Amino acid sequence: REIDGQGKVLMPGFIDMHCHLRDPGLTYKEDMETGMKAALKGGFTTLVAMANTKPVMDNAEALKANMDKAEALGLCDLVQVCALTKDFSDADLVDFESTREYTNVYSNDGHNVDNEETMKKGLAASTEYNFILATHCEPETETVERDIALLRETPGHLHVCHISKKDTLEAIKAAKAEGLDITCEVTPHHLYASAMEYKVHPPFRSYPDRRALIEGARDGSIDICGTDHAPHSDEDKLKGAPGINNFETAFAMYYTVFEGAGISVERLSQMLSEAPAERMGIKAGLVKERYAGDLVLVDLDAEERVDPRTFISKSHNTPFGRELLKGKVLMTFKGGEIAYDNGSLV
Ligand code: DOR
Ligand code: ZN
Ligand code: ZN
Repeated sequence: REIDGQGKVLMPGFIDMHCHLRDPGLTYKEDMETGMKAALKGGFTTLVAMANTKPVMDNAEALKANMDKAEALGLCDLVQVCALTKDFSDADLVDFESTREYTNVYSNDGHNVDNEETMKKGLAASTEYNFILATHCEPETETVERDIALLRETPGHLHVCHISKKDTLEAIKAAKAEGLDITCEVTPHHLYASAMEYKVHPPFRSYPDRRALIEGARDGSIDICGTDHAPHSDEDKLKGAPGINNFETAFAMYYTVFEGAGISVERLSQMLSEAPAERMGIKAGLVKERYAGDLVLVDLDAEERVDPRTFISKSHNTPFGRELLKGKVLMTFKGGEIAYDNGSLV
């Protein structure tokens, strides 16, 4: 089949360093299949799924079960995050020996690691077993500063999830200048909007914070564009669950911001694909992913209003319904084959 890409842009498949697939145990919000289909529609071909499932992903059997499920679905490649501690507890670390076979990212997303000793041991393990320790330490900049201080004493591979504040970015910039191994990620919503009431964690910040994040994306101090795709049912949202359903709008939200700020689509591509691949060793072949032949065809001139009713995701929680966004994913290729084509999954 011939594909007419005249005037369109072909990009490497997007690698989402941070999403929530809710499988197992919270599948009324999303399951691996609906999440991966929504992701493919959004141009994401590799997903790093956080460990706050039910039960928590904290052992080799659970990780293996999810990796097998992903393999059987044949939709996106999965990096299944393992919790740092058993059931997100304070001090009971997971067994790195057995779990490391199935993952290379550990994180207690949704839960801060308050115990400094636990964090130190986690950092030491990240060096010993060669994995990324992703922290969910914002909303407080102080927690990020604490983790940086720990990293100074105990070398490790630290990744700071969904940063939202100028102060946090400044702390990370300083840590990078010291030569510490630290990277960070931003979400589409914190770049796109400020001071909104919609419940999300970390919360929407001020306009100056948002501007600082955009400058961080431009100058390279923010490494990665994630999604923090966090599907929730209407009922759970009414009860106050934090999170935004992002897979199907992330690219257009990012592109709209980048284009508005005069940041190149090449830089966006770096942040959506190259940087996360590098950070997780996907390019180096450390993760058993197919990656080659993962491509996205986008139309950078298309403008479209967000319509949550058209989401493939099981949930529709977003404050951005009716928003006019620029940039549209037309086709997604997985391992050289068409996976998503102008509105339908193949
Ligand atoms: O808003 C959020 N919701 N932020 C997170 O980091 C976790 C997520 C969730 O699991 O719903
Ligand atoms: Zn989080
Ligand atoms: Zn998250």
